[in-house]
Amino acid sequence: MSDGRLIVVSNREPYIHERNKRGIRCKTPVGGLVTALDPVMQRVRGVWIAWGSGNADAEMADEKGRLQVPENNPRYTLRRIWLDPKEVNEYYYGFSNRVIWPVCHLFQEKAWLLPEYWETYKKVNQRFVDATLEEAGPEDPIWLQDVHFSLMPSALREELPDSNIALFWHIPFPPWETFSCIPWRREMLEGLLGANLLGFHTSSYVANFLNTVQKEFPEAQISSSAIRYKGRTTRVRPFPIGIDYVNYRALSSRENIRRRANQLRHKMNVQQIILGVDRLDYTKGILNRFLAFERFLDTHPRYLGKVSFIQVASPTRSAISEYREMKRQIEETVGRVNGKFQRPQWTPVIYISRHVPTDEIMMLYRIADVAMVTPIIDGMNLVAKEYVTVNDNGVLILSEFAGASEEMESAIIVNPYDVESMAKALEKALSMTSEERARHIEPLRKLVKEHDIFWWLNTFLEEWGVKMESLEASGGQRIVAGA
Ligand code: ADP
Ligand code: G6P
Repeated sequence: MSDGRLIVVSNREPYIHERNKRGIRCKTPVGGLVTALDPVMQRVRGVWIAWGSGNADAEMADEKGRLQVPENNPRYTLRRIWLDPKEVNEYYYGFSNRVIWPVCHLFQEKAWLLPEYWETYKKVNQRFVDATLEEAGPEDPIWLQDVHFSLMPSALREELPDSNIALFWHIPFPPWETFSCIPWRREMLEGLLGANLLGFHTSSYVANFLNTVQKEFPEAQISSSAIRYKGRTTRVRPFPIGIDYVNYRALSSRENIRRRANQLRHKMNVQQIILGVDRLDYTKGILNRFLAFERFLDTHPRYLGKVSFIQVASPTRSAISEYREMKRQIEETVGRVNGKFQRPQWTPVIYISRHVPTDEIMMLYRIADVAMVTPIIDGMNLVAKEYVTVNDNGVLILSEFAGASEEMESAIIVNPYDVESMAKALEKALSMTSEERARHIEPLRKLVKEHDIFWWLNTFLEEWGVKMESLEASGGQRIVAGA
């Protein structure tokens, strides 16, 4: 039980201030963690501690790095932490995104196991611990987010032995053989075991984690949902994350979005539209998706001129060479596929490689007959949930290796490595009747509605044994951002 404020800690901040020639602008970053947690913090209030990554972030915060957000309707405190370029390079790009990210997504061959990355990761974890100790009172539950902070639970536990400390791991947790290629795996696991509760998206990530702990620490006592180690118990459970369903439905049904979506659909002058929306990450399977579309057009020429594929792919982590290389390969493939099929009046692949505002993403969800969400592997994937929320008559093609497939099993499930079967899935999706589509999407939408982000929050807090007064006070009322 807690009367305190919720303290959330993540690497990525929910609001970034950037200065350009026209002045300072506040942006929301692209990514599932921020999409999911901002509505939570708007509901619960409290403090969100994160890296201040924008070039005007310091100007917009007080001397402690604090400001109230969102700007137009302040609901919680953002506390920004400053990192120098070496720290950004070694802790964020290095250990988080060149070690933990590839290893947990089963791309061990892309991991750079450099000791300097590990040293800086430790140092930055300690920096966040110090800031958390400044913000958190003894009653305040501390909720750490994601792979950037595996050492924080134990480090905080030393200072706050009785505090409620939890961590949610937003990406897959791999089998022991994969995770244990990280030379510092035991320190990371011991760090995590300082938490009272560890959350993962799916039951298979939980099973992988429990098995990894058992292999590394044979003396630990392990049940299906808890670990007893060095006299302390950590509960471990799946909590499939969701979206702010009500807000998405409300925003996407606005008259101006409907109207602009209809106009766009009309202008496109094709019978059907396939959509992909992703950060440009090598885990997202974008390349294979285009190969599947190419195969589909090769084998079903009657669709030439009638179907376009819109891919929104926002550049991400471009300081990392593997991301730049993948971007190059994708762009080459788009050029090749378009060169092969294009006609004066028809573009097969429309490729948008930038951040797209949320209302435009909503329009695209509305006009797409089929969404291809086919990551090679993904912790959950919120795009799948957003699409079925917005579109009442679409078809979802979903990778069996996206965490979302554990719940959304009635989607058209595909193996993202199998280009041929993805081409067949496209043909199946595009030939469904309107009634079949409505029957297909209805149960998926129901599931996303029932297991929305507030269901996730409540389930997590209940298991954690934390009751937030601010949450009780807001009752069942939904918060509609920007409404
Ligand atoms: P990840 O967290 O790995 O990026 P998710 O699918 O869980 O993947 O979440 C991605 C979030 O970012 C979704 O809310 C989606 O709408 C948003 N998003 C993805 N690509 C773009 C883009 N190009 N422009 C704007 N928003 C995007
Ligand atoms: C994934 C990670 C998040 C991260 C997001 C965007 O969802 O789990 O921790 O914030 O990707 O990536 P970025 O590196 O830009 O924060």
